[in-house]
Amino acid sequence: MRILLLLLLTTAAAAQNQAAAPPASASGFIGSNACKTCHADVWMNFYKNPHYKSIVSGKEPREKTGCEGCHGPAQKHVEARGGKTTIPQAFSLMQPKQALDTCLGCHARDLARANIQRSEHTRNGVACTSCHSIHHSATPKYLLAKKQNELCYGCHATVRAQFSMPSKHRVNEGFMQCSDCHNPHGSFDATWKMGQKPRMMQQALNTESPCIKCHIDKRGPFVYEHAPVRVEGCETCHSPHGSMNAKLLRRPVVFTVCLECHNGAAGFGTRNDAIPLQSNRHNMLDPKFQKCTTCHVAIHGSNSDAFFLR
Ligand code: HEC
Ligand code: HEC
Ligand code: HEC
Ligand code: HEC
Ligand code: HEC
Ligand code: HEC
Ligand code: HEC
Ligand code: HEC
Ligand code: HEC
Ligand code: HEC
Repeated sequence: MRILLLLLLTTAAAAQNQAAAPPASASGFIGSNACKTCHADVWMNFYKNPHYKSIVSGKEPREKTGCEGCHGPAQKHVEARGGKTTIPQAFSLMQPKQALDTCLGCHARDLARANIQRSEHTRNGVACTSCHSIHHSATPKYLLAKKQNELCYGCHATVRAQFSMPSKHRVNEGFMQCSDCHNPHGSFDATWKMGQKPRMMQQALNTESPCIKCHIDKRGPFVYEHAPVRVEGCETCHSPHGSMNAKLLRRPVVFTVCLECHNGAAGFGTRNDAIPLQSNRHNMLDPKFQKCTTCHVAIHGSNSDAFFLR
């Protein structure tokens, strides 16, 4: 009985394929097969697309199946033998906001995109289709319009130069990607930065800084924390993309990094008292004391010494 039914259905489908304009439903949906004849180029590649799954499974409602899942009910378009204005969701006629809403019709519940509406990209009119190409993607994975680095550099040209500096993360060499640190879909407020603007940072290990994912030894918690590592974040002392200075430091020599805060000036940060530079233990006129991290080796935090000496 089942087999017979299947047979009937297959013959029906085959018959439908041959008909120029197959019968449509009252709702205006006509099914993806109707697109084959005129959009053979798109169709021939579509089986590789993750969005093809809905056609194969046949389990989704028509408004979420195949071509019409994105382009809307297409009966009128087919009856009119084509045309841009006859298809309800023609992306070439859409504003970024409309394109975004179309994709979010299905993708709003993905965790990675939970904050997309508030992201810098969305607020600046960069929509899904600025980065993803459904029918002409350069990378099979994630349907990206270009290889990831090139995609991002297309709009962030200055960042490329930063990744070419002497000290750098090897993004241009292909060992890392922007998305190791950033979520291009927007991020949550960063708990590790105490509410500072998070720059669409990717979150690792329970909403921590993405740096921790790879630099595990800096994770802590330490018995003795160095306040800026935990509060302001790694970028206080390091340029995350690249730097002219060793170890991605923001300043050419270590002590100038330290002296930004440990300069004896009162009122630094949330403290009212000063963090001393000249003290009975330090003589800054002696060059030996300028190499702070030869003594303060555990500069990211220590479990045994309050002065980060070990
Ligand atoms: C009888 C031929 C024909 C059939 C069948 C057909 N189309 Fe089209 N379609 C066209 C033509 C012609 C255009 C080009 C209009 C233009 O560029 O002015 C077009 C354009 C489009 C566009 C581009 C709109 C834009 O953004 O510029 C989409 C999307 C589209 N069709 C989707 C579909 C879908 C989905 C189906 C199947 C349900 C389908 N078409 C079936 C002929 C057809
Ligand atoms: C996941 C959403 C989605 C699905 C599913 C989808 N399209 Fe598209 N389509 C788009 C977007 C977005 C564009 C705009 C151009 C781009 O990003 O590639 C587009 C563009 C088009 C165009 C314009 C010409 C071109 O090549 O860009 C045609 C024609 C078209 N689609 C037909 C189809 C047909 C036929 C199907 C089913 C086989 C289909 N689309 C399925 C999102 C989709
Ligand atoms: C009708 C529902 C629907 C719409 C509308 C839709 N998608 Fe999807 N999308 C899906 C489904 C289902 C998957 C496959 C998930 C899976 O593989 O389990 C998917 C997968 C993806 C993927 C992942 C590809 C990969 O390699 O893992 C990307 C990227 C994507 N969609 C982008 C878009 C964009 C951009 C739009 C708007 C132009 C869009 N989608 C519109 C349902 C939809
Ligand atoms: C600024 C560029 C950009 C924009 C805008 C963008 N994406 Fe992405 N998207 C990416 C990149 C890059 C990846 C791959 C991330 C990775 O390698 O981990 C990706 C991955 C994905 C994936 C697959 C992996 C995952 O996170 O689930 C889906 C689905 C997806 N995007 C959907 C969307 C949708 C839907 C929109 C719009 C609402 C959108 N994207 C907007 C760049 C973008
Ligand atoms: C090692 C982690 C890391 C990688 C990899 C990374 N970023 Fe960043 N990026 C950051 C951090 C951290 C900030 C915030 C810096 C700050 O607030 O001082 C940032 C800031 C930015 C900014 C905003 C500030 C500015 O400099 O204009 C842009 C744009 C940016 N990154 C783009 C990219 C692009 C494009 C890529 C890939 C080619 C990339 N990033 C790879 C960590 C990274
Ligand atoms: C179509 C152009 C475009 C593409 C492609 C693009 N961006 Fe952006 N990006 C923007 C614009 C516009 C802004 C907001 C203005 C600015 O900061 O320059 C922005 C801002 C950012 C910021 C700063 C956020 C903040 O809080 O200041 C980061 C980080 C970023 N983009 C990363 C990426 C990454 C990673 C990719 C690749 C996956 C990417 N962008 C692809 C246009 C783009
Ligand atoms: C995906 C893994 C990964 C992430 C995420 C990451 N790094 Fe790195 N980092 C590395 C690797 C691997 C190196 C070794 C340098 C190389 O690639 O040549 C490195 C090198 C460094 C160095 C220089 C070490 C040296 O000896 O020169 C510093 C400083 C650094 N990272 C800080 C950061 C900061 C700050 C962040 C977050 C904004 C971060 N890293 C995120 C993998 C990562
Ligand atoms: C208070 C300034 C400061 C902050 C904040 C800071 N670092 Fe550093 N970091 C340094 C200094 C200084 C060095 C160089 C030490 C040396 O010369 O031996 C360094 C070296 C490094 C190195 C290379 C040597 C090593 O110890 O592995 C890595 C990797 C690194 N930092 C990662 C991070 C990460 C990840 C964060 C955030 C969790 C961070 N740093 C926050 C000051 C800082
Ligand atoms: C962004 C500001 C900042 C930078 C840069 C910085 N520190 Fe600190 N440091 C602090 C703060 C805040 C404390 C906590 C002081 C307190 O709680 O009394 C601290 C504590 C310390 C302590 C522990 C002593 C104490 O009083 O608790 C040492 C040692 C120290 N820093 C050394 C360094 C060295 C060496 C560098 C350079 C590699 C450096 N710091 C860079 C802000 C900074
Ligand atoms: C020759 C080793 C050595 C060098 C180099 C050194 N320190 Fe220290 N530092 C110490 C010792 C030892 C202490 C005190 C520990 C104690 O009291 O047990 C200390 C304490 C501190 C304290 C805590 C407050 C204070 O003055 O007692 C700060 C802040 C500090 N150092 C910052 C720095 C900075 C910034 C540099 C680089 C400009 C630096 N140190 C270079 C050995 C050194």
